[in-house]
Amino acid sequence: MKNIDIVSLFPEIIDLYIKNSPITKSLDDKDLLISTHQLRNFSLDKHKRVDDKQYGGDPGMVLMAEPLIKSIDHISELRGSKPLTILMSPQGKKLDPKLLSEILERDFIAVICGRYEGVDERFIEEKVDIEVSIGDFIVSGGELPSLILIESLLRFLPGIIGNEMSLDNDSFGINFQNLLKGPVYTRPKIINGREVPEILLSGDPKKISKWRENISKKRTQERRKDL
Ligand SMILES: C[S@@+](CC[C@H](N)C(=O)[O-])C[C@H]1O[C@@H](n2cnc3c(N)ncnc32)[C@H](O)[C@@H]1O
Repeated sequence: MKNIDIVSLFPEIIDLYIKNSPITKSLDDKDLLISTHQLRNFSLDKHKRVDDKQYGGDPGMVLMAEPLIKSIDHISELRGSKPLTILMSPQGKKLDPKLLSEILERDFIAVICGRYEGVDERFIEEKVDIEVSIGDFIVSGGELPSLILIESLLRFLPGIIGNEMSLDNDSFGINFQNLLKGPVYTRPKIINGREVPEILLSGDPKKISKWRENISKKRTQERRKDL
C-alpha cells in the first residue's frame, strides 16, 4: 500500500481535486491511500494559530516549526514509519522525471504545503527530506504545487492510466526521453484547409514512427534547447 499524506492549511482545496479529478477517481480499487491533514489540528495554541511574525523585522508571516513537526510525528505514528517528507518550495529541486522516479520508490510519502513567507527553517532541518519546486515562479501556497506533484506521481502507478502505453508516448516518456512529443491530430481530416499530415493516413507504422521521431527532435530543438 502506498500512502500519500498531505499537510495543509487548506486541505479542502486538495480534497475537492482528489475527489473530482478523473485520474484520482480511478483510485478506489488501487493500492493507494491519499489523506489530507489540517495543519491547525497540530497547533500548540488554544486559538489554533500556526503562523507568526518573522524574526528580523521583514513583513509577512511564517508557518511555525512545532505544528509542522507534530504533523510529521503524527503521520509517522499513523503509518508506522517515517514518511519521505517533501516540502513544496520554490527553493527546492525542480520537479522532473528523475526526481519523480526517486519519490516513486517510496511507499510512505508526506507532502507539506507552505503558505505566506514559507516555513520556519528549523522544521526543514528537523524533518524535511526533499524540497520540491514546480518551477521558477511563485504561487501563494503549496496546495497547487502538491497536486501537481501528486498527479505526476500517480500517472506512473500501474493501472491508473487506462492505456499505459500512452505514458511511454508522452513528452519525456520512455519513447521520448528528454524530448517533446510533437503534434497530434483527430477527425476531421481537413479543417479550414488545414490537413492532417499525409503520412499519418498511410497505415505504415514504420514510416509513421520515423516521422514522429523526426518531428519530435525538430520541435525539441526549436522550443527546448535546454533538454
Ligand atoms: C508565497 S510562497 C513563499 C515563497 C518564499 N517567500 C520564497 O521566496 O521562497 C508560499 C508557499 O507556496 C508554495 N510555493 C510557491 N511557489 C512554489 C513553487 N514554485 N514550487 C513549489 N511550491 C511553491 C510553497 O509551499 C511556499 O512555502
